[in-house]
Amino acid sequence: MVWAGWNVIVHANDERRLCRRAEIPDGGVLAVDSVAALEGADLLLTRRGGCVAAFHNVCPHAGHRLDWAPGEFLLRDGVLTCAAHGASFDAFTGSCLGGPCRGEGLRPVALEVLADDAVLLADGDGR
Ligand code: FES
Repeated sequence: MVWAGWNVIVHANDERRLCRRAEIPDGGVLAVDSVAALEGADLLLTRRGGCVAAFHNVCPHAGHRLDWAPGEFLLRDGVLTCAAHGASFDAFTGSCLGGPCRGEGLRPVALEVLADDAVLLADGDGR
């Protein structure tokens, strides 16, 4: 198992901007906590090359965060494992791959990536 962690970014305002794409390690995860524009939701962002994805950092099994400590995730070969009871998810699609998630997936969050590499919450209802 790989311990894949990066800094946790904590948002205290309602801006749509989450981070810069380069802050998400390629093939890794970045936690972005307390996103005011999403009523204080905690997110996890993943990246594969130039593509990024975001999900609520809430496991569909029992509602725990997926990280074992803030910003520290169990990740190996693109599979994200919930630290609570071991449900596993595709780190980029959020689909359940095994364990107690029983076919449920992570709740996605729509993003926009600007030309300057800024990663923002999408403007609209795709959250
Ligand atoms: S809360 Fe994630 S596997 Fe149980």
